[in-house]
Amino acid sequence: MPSQSQKYDVLVLGAGVIGLSSALDLVEAGYRVAVAAKDLPEDSFSTGFASPWAGCNWHTFEDDGSSPAAKRDARTYARLAKVAATHPHLCKRIEFVDVFSTRVPAESRWNNDLVGGICEVTRDTYPIPGGHPHAHIWNSYIIHAPKYILHLASLLRSKNVPIVRTRLSSLDEAYDIPSIGPVSLVVNATGLGSFSLIGVEDPKAHPARGQTVLVRAPRAKRCIMNTESFMGDDDAAKPAYIIPRPGCDEVVLGGTYIPNNHSSLPDLVEADRILQACFDLEPLLAPQGGGWRDIEVISHNVGLRPARDGGARVELEKKVVGSATRRVGRPNSADKKQVGVVHAYGFGSAGFQASLGAAEEVVQLTNEYFGKPNNAILQGRQAKL
Ligand code: FAD
Ligand code: LAC
Repeated sequence: MPSQSQKYDVLVLGAGVIGLSSALDLVEAGYRVAVAAKDLPEDSFSTGFASPWAGCNWHTFEDDGSSPAAKRDARTYARLAKVAATHPHLCKRIEFVDVFSTRVPAESRWNNDLVGGICEVTRDTYPIPGGHPHAHIWNSYIIHAPKYILHLASLLRSKNVPIVRTRLSSLDEAYDIPSIGPVSLVVNATGLGSFSLIGVEDPKAHPARGQTVLVRAPRAKRCIMNTESFMGDDDAAKPAYIIPRPGCDEVVLGGTYIPNNHSSLPDLVEADRILQACFDLEPLLAPQGGGWRDIEVISHNVGLRPARDGGARVELEKKVVGSATRRVGRPNSADKKQVGVVHAYGFGSAGFQASLGAAEEVVQLTNEYFGKPNNAILQGRQAKL
């Protein structure tokens, strides 16, 4: 059980979509929570974290519906319905078109039922974007990523959860941040930070560079995805996607997925490639009668996805934090204690679409650590977003 002598039970390290969503569900489950991070949701131009740069939509990349990742995606899809109903400027359900070079049976996609049915069409019967031979038409969610994380942060602050700026060099430090005080459980939601954070240093964690172009295109209303070879090793793969932002006339055009590339500088040749490929899919991106060069560009952006070989790590680890973080004037022994860490990082391209499912897993693992029954989930006690 949590200690009553401490002000907080759990410190969430990381204020991207995973840390913030987890913190909200932990509060709902009755925990006293604080959040600490080097990049805060207000830092919407920081390349130090991935969340502000997301497209952003729910478009699962999982093939196997029984995988933990697919389950997270499914839970998030279900919960996004409420967000869309209450905050349409943050999240909206719209038409999606996935284009393919070969036939993909709609019934082979695990999310067919979840999303209310996927309709399979060919170019003989339907005007498929870009003239591609096959497509799926379905409905899913678009999210305004930078505004959504600000919304999560404001919900947390309204529940008196502190969100403090702290840059830590080791996980051990998180157990006694001066402005927060001691905690016995830390949620490690540091994304790419888990590659270098001492005490985690996960060699499987790596960046996957994503370049996008933010444009103003009030006539483009559909999400169109040509991502057949999105995460493949094929250098010739030229993915393109069009993700409108809810509540405004901005559209995110993507994009690249380049593993182990950490350059945050946009490549303008790549940007032209993205603009042309997206215009081929959706001429409505340009003003009436215009070509791809007439698309109104707002900015060229790069985000580093927190990818991980083998997928996200969501697990409880028990450990002893030690003397490496000893403070001046305190004996070594005072700092040695048994603690827990719930890891929740490495979500790559899927951090938003997995976020609410991941948050529920974080609560389950936190309950496991504190020896509490997992009834918060069973009783449907998730944060109201
Ligand atoms: P981050 O957002 O990276 O947050 C990590 C947090 O940890 C930050 O607050 C950071 O400051 C903190 N931190 C790290 N190290 C330390 C340290 N040492 N001390 C203190 N704090 C630390 N996902 C989707 O679901 N749908 C999409 O359509 C989509 N599109 C994308 C498009 C692009 C171009 C990119 C780049 C990403 C996209 N993603 C999408 C992926 C999504 O952005 C990420 O999966 C998600 O943002 C990861 O969230 P996170 O909270 O795990 O990590
Ligand atoms: C990305 C979106 C498509 O990662 O998930 O670029």
